[in-house]
Amino acid sequence: MKKSSETAAADRRLSTVARHLITTTTNNEEEENGSFMISSSPTAAAGQSVFSNIVGAPEDPILGVTVAYNKDPSPVKLNLGVGAYRTEEGKPLVLNVVRKAENLLVNDRTRVKEYLPIVGLADFNKLSAKLILGEDSHAIRGNLVTTVQCLSGTGSLRVGAEFLARHYYQHTIYIPNPTWGNHTKIFNLAGLTVKTYRYYDPATRGLNFQGLQEDLGSAPSGAIVLLHACAHNPTGVDPTLEQWEQIRRLIRSKSLLPFFDSAYQGFASGSLDKDAQSVRMFVGDGGECFIAQSYAKNLGLYGERVGALSIVCRAADVASRVESQLKLVIRPMYSNPPIHGASIVATILKDRNLYHEWTLELKAMADRIITMRKQLFDALSARGTPGDWSHILKQIGMFTFTGLNTKQVAFMTKEYHIYMTSDGRISMAGLSSRTVPHLADAMHAAVTTVV
Ligand code: LMR
Repeated sequence: MKKSSETAAADRRLSTVARHLITTTTNNEEEENGSFMISSSPTAAAGQSVFSNIVGAPEDPILGVTVAYNKDPSPVKLNLGVGAYRTEEGKPLVLNVVRKAENLLVNDRTRVKEYLPIVGLADFNKLSAKLILGEDSHAIRGNLVTTVQCLSGTGSLRVGAEFLARHYYQHTIYIPNPTWGNHTKIFNLAGLTVKTYRYYDPATRGLNFQGLQEDLGSAPSGAIVLLHACAHNPTGVDPTLEQWEQIRRLIRSKSLLPFFDSAYQGFASGSLDKDAQSVRMFVGDGGECFIAQSYAKNLGLYGERVGALSIVCRAADVASRVESQLKLVIRPMYSNPPIHGASIVATILKDRNLYHEWTLELKAMADRIITMRKQLFDALSARGTPGDWSHILKQIGMFTFTGLNTKQVAFMTKEYHIYMTSDGRISMAGLSSRTVPHLADAMHAAVTTVV
């Protein structure tokens, strides 16, 4: 009997997930393996839990850093693990513009708590597309884009990946090496096969542009390519505009499908338009493009889980059919998205004054991070810390990929109570003028005493 396309897609997904389970459980080098370990069959004796054989999973490599930090009683402890903005006083920041929008929402007695449509808040979707694609985008004018509200960047990536696993003929996605730790899991669990392309060159602590071109150049036609729109996580290394243009040409000439992860618009350079240039270049050429947007960092809406998935198509009727299928992905996953965060974003994006105020607050956050880069670089120079640290100044966005190795990171955590991911990534947004000397002391000690 012939299988329906949905059944066939589900089968493919199961077999990809099963393959993933096998590889992750046999590869000791993956930190997060435990989460996929299949426990032996539950032959529970009377009174014993059927889950008694479950293998305890390790903490998440990024969010687990905060768990460890929270347990540390030291007064000098410093969390540079998770990418979350802190003020000069080391406190989380709620933007003024967000407080204002929330006040407007709370005082509006006409607002109700009904379900949103499956695709989310209409205004939010329209305004999010405009924000990333630009006011004058031909894709918006021609109704070539469908945008659906999702649960921040992760949810947008996952919905896009589930859609691709069901409806796209190529199931291989190329992601940069290294990349954000969650990417591989998101795409694997959606049923895609994950391969990597070279991105970072440890020797220069910059972009391995030649490796990137070679790997994408030898990818099979139609393969999906994950690109970080700006402020690459974890390296802070972005292609130049000229390099983006060459990447675009290569991707289009090989009919690869670009899937942008845009988690830091406005956070890298301080300008929303500048940080969207890579995406706009691709959308401007009329080809298909996927974009996952997050408002976690640029509006500080981390826990509100606000994001959007946009799929740019070549024709309006295709975009509308794509949207109808996205609803079938979303409805059984979480039914429809939450209303509060998206309402905050829409309130800010549609009000000229609030929008302007947001751009100023965003610029101030980006500038503070740039200042932290300078201060850390100067502090290491003042200590004569061996090595070339100019990449701290050159890298962009929330993170610096320090080049410190796992042992050095462990040393800094043990001796200095500084928490960071084991790959040597530090969140510059978690630093302040007060804590820079402590970090510089720790880095100096790590580099001079631990190989
Ligand atoms: C990070 O990379 O630290 C952030 O994107 C937070 C997360 O969810 O991993």
